[in-house]
Amino acid sequence: MDPSITSEAAIGVRNPAKLAPLPHKVVGPEIFSEFSLKDKVAVVTGGDGGLGLEFCIVLAELGAAVYAIDLPAKPSADFEAAAKYCRRLGTSLEYRRADISDSLRATAILEEIANNNDGRVDVLIAAAGILGDEHDVEAYPAESFRKVMDINCGGVFYSAQAAAKIMKRKGIAGSIILIASISGSVTNRDMKWSAYNVSKSAVVQMGRSMACELGQFGIRVNTLSPGHIRTKMTAQTLESDTKMEAFWASLNPLGRIGAIHELRGVIAWLSSEASSFCTGSDIIVSGGHTAW
Ligand SMILES: NC(=O)c1ccc[n+]([C@@H]2O[C@H](COP(=O)([O-])OP(=O)(O)OC[C@H]3O[C@@H](n4cnc5c(N)ncnc54)[C@H](O)[C@@H]3O)[C@@H](O)[C@H]2O)c1
Repeated sequence: MDPSITSEAAIGVRNPAKLAPLPHKVVGPEIFSEFSLKDKVAVVTGGDGGLGLEFCIVLAELGAAVYAIDLPAKPSADFEAAAKYCRRLGTSLEYRRADISDSLRATAILEEIANNNDGRVDVLIAAAGILGDEHDVEAYPAESFRKVMDINCGGVFYSAQAAAKIMKRKGIAGSIILIASISGSVTNRDMKWSAYNVSKSAVVQMGRSMACELGQFGIRVNTLSPGHIRTKMTAQTLESDTKMEAFWASLNPLGRIGAIHELRGVIAWLSSEASSFCTGSDIIVSGGHTAW
């Protein structure tokens, strides 16, 4: 396990004590170094756009070499702009095409990334997902249900499984973040998204289950459950009904839906040593949607 992640680390209250005999040493804040991902390799599924691309940028800003996995043959213009920005920062953001619901492909692409990086994957964020079709529960087509489960549940499991195998083999105290949703804990009022809700509940339990098995290797697994955030996934519903945004906003105490950048802090925390004692947790960032 990374020796800096121990109770003996000279951070927090230990740092002033360590510096006391050196009164002339210039000191600065230590907190930011706890969020550093310098020399780390990070992978984000669903990283071509939406929340996944924002996560890629956060990881690169923290110093990681970042790989995004997604479906299109060529990455989006937004991705290209982000990759250019990451190069200017002195880090990297690369694109890999893969369908993560194909278990063999998901494993192969993670192994390829590790092979190109001295066997390392330090952080995995499993953000690829679909909303699926909206149907009355009693009429939900089996094929649509299967597709949602294959991607949101199967794909998250296969990519996390592959990352865990790489981390364990290399002795890396890595961080795996599974993107769930408030829909894994509560049902979105008046929305007929039963398959999606089932899949996200499964992701929350997957996170706990993986955390319990992998903790002995120092590998942490948490789920992040956002509330309503405007992305390509939610745009269709928001644009189909002009009253929808106000309705969703009324469902949380802050009275608004979230913006993509409002997950930057929690991703920085969960992916880095700043969250070294956090595993098996579901972190809800939703404007308080589940508080009432
Ligand atoms: N936007 C929200 O309000 C919200 C709220 C809670 C949870 N989430 C979750 O956050 C994650 C990101 O969603 P988003 O809102 O950014 O949506 P999005 O549609 O903008 O992004 C999802 C990405 O996943 C990719 N993807 C889909 N299937 C894939 C597959 N089989 N293999 C590889 N990539 C695949 C898509 O191409 C897309 O780039 C999803 O898991 C979603 O369920 C979103």
